[in-house]
Amino acid sequence: MHYTLCDLIADLTQNAVEAASSHIRVEFTESDDKLTVYIRDNGKGMDGELLKKVRDPFYTDGIKHPNRKIGMGIPFLIQTTADTGGNWKIDSVPGKGTVVYMCFDLSNIDTPPVGDVCRLFRQLLIFPGSYELEIVRTKHTKDCSLNYTLLRSELSDALGKMETAADLALLDEFLQSQENG
Ligand SMILES: Nc1ncnc2c1ncn2[C@@H]1O[C@H](COP(=O)(O)OP(=O)(O)OP(=O)(O)O)[C@@H](O)[C@H]1O
Ligand SMILES: [Mg+2]
Repeated sequence: MHYTLCDLIADLTQNAVEAASSHIRVEFTESDDKLTVYIRDNGKGMDGELLKKVRDPFYTDGIKHPNRKIGMGIPFLIQTTADTGGNWKIDSVPGKGTVVYMCFDLSNIDTPPVGDVCRLFRQLLIFPGSYELEIVRTKHTKDCSLNYTLLRSELSDALGKMETAADLALLDEFLQSQENG
């Protein structure tokens, strides 16, 4: 299976959408040897007991995938960071929301590749639902310096509902232009 850090971040942000959040903020900060990501949502949150259970790959809420008994987002985060010298933390308050923090050592040979950032941002912007999404992208490496913010509501005002092939082509072009600096 090809699994990139972007795939993992897409899974964890999808959890925030599925938790009925109306506002989600993803901070994606990259340097030559480190990727730090915060996913903050104001969704339904998790209590202490659920937070313990979700570490187990054999736990899922039983609603999302009625025929599947495993949930992989959080267990993958835990395993990937444990195997590669990274770090993670989840803070959650029932009824208020959740903050998922993760940090990856990009110089560790076992850390999966970052993956395609434009594809990730596109994916995060087009999950079904009416949530606001703020993406704060920062990259400071020896070859590149980037700092931009994307707001889902502004993009859908400018690009339509991001549903048709034409809207998505415009979105891809815009995201690529942001990444090219
Ligand atoms: N941001 C969040 N807010 C509220 N609950 C969450 C959040 N993230 C995860 N959870 C809870 O943790 C459970 C496990 O999440 P995980 O991503 O590991 O698996 P899943 O989402 O159930 O399945 P999969 O990711 O494979 O679709 C979710 O079913 C949900 O109950
Ligand atoms: Mg999930």
